[in-house]
Amino acid sequence: MIEVSNLSFSRYQGDREFPILRGLNLSLTQGEQLALLGDSGSGKTTLLHILAGLLPADAGAVAIDDTDLTQLDDTELAIYRRQLGLIFQHYQLLDCLTVKQNILFQFQLNFPKQEASEFTALVAALGLENKLDAMPHQISGGEQQRVGIARALLNKPKLVLADEPTGNLDQTRSHQVVKLLTALCRERNINLVMVTHSQQLTDYFDRVEVLSNGQFA
Ligand SMILES: Nc1ncnc2c1ncn2[C@@H]1O[C@H](COP(=O)(O)OP(=O)(O)O)[C@@H](O)[C@H]1O
Ligand SMILES: [Mg+2]
Repeated sequence: MIEVSNLSFSRYQGDREFPILRGLNLSLTQGEQLALLGDSGSGKTTLLHILAGLLPADAGAVAIDDTDLTQLDDTELAIYRRQLGLIFQHYQLLDCLTVKQNILFQFQLNFPKQEASEFTALVAALGLENKLDAMPHQISGGEQQRVGIARALLNKPKLVLADEPTGNLDQTRSHQVVKLLTALCRERNINLVMVTHSQQLTDYFDRVEVLSNGQFA
């Protein structure tokens, strides 16, 4: 469950204020999936960073389940961030690690046994069984993003934030990736907020919001 109320955030150049989010409100029920649209520079990434606890809001409240992020100290924010799944436009895979090692990256030192079946399920659902020993440069962009999705979901996140995850993919691969991402989150009842430029991809989502002038239009 996500409850954002009256969220404001500005950037400053010198002492000139550039308001980016102006009293934004957003309410998502458990498991609800939101596609976030808006012109370049409208503040979509900024909003994701605030939801990720990476940027502090200037004003307003950002509640994830019953926790208001604006009330957490740095240690508590670090713990909160571990419960997120983050998916990026440029995949952010480590070049020198195999597909399998990338997916398991956060568990390198201590891979809990109970995650093994989730690993197997995700790898199968994402069609990566035969790619586990490949290096990132040996697989396609669509496959690389599927690795990004497996890595994000293996963590059993309460919230998945994806910033233009199909920005580098062609139309067919974009649909494949978003279809898989929304289906996997839906099965697991995980909230998903995904930024996209593609109106067509919004069909997979429960909700669509367009960010404009710091508000949802
Ligand atoms: N680190 C930063 N410092 C200053 N201004 C920034 C920074 N990041 C983003 N901005 C500005 O904030 C506005 C919103 O940016 P962003 O959230 O990245 O938009 P979007 O993701 O919708 O393209 C833009 O005008 C951008 O130039
Ligand atoms: Mg952006």
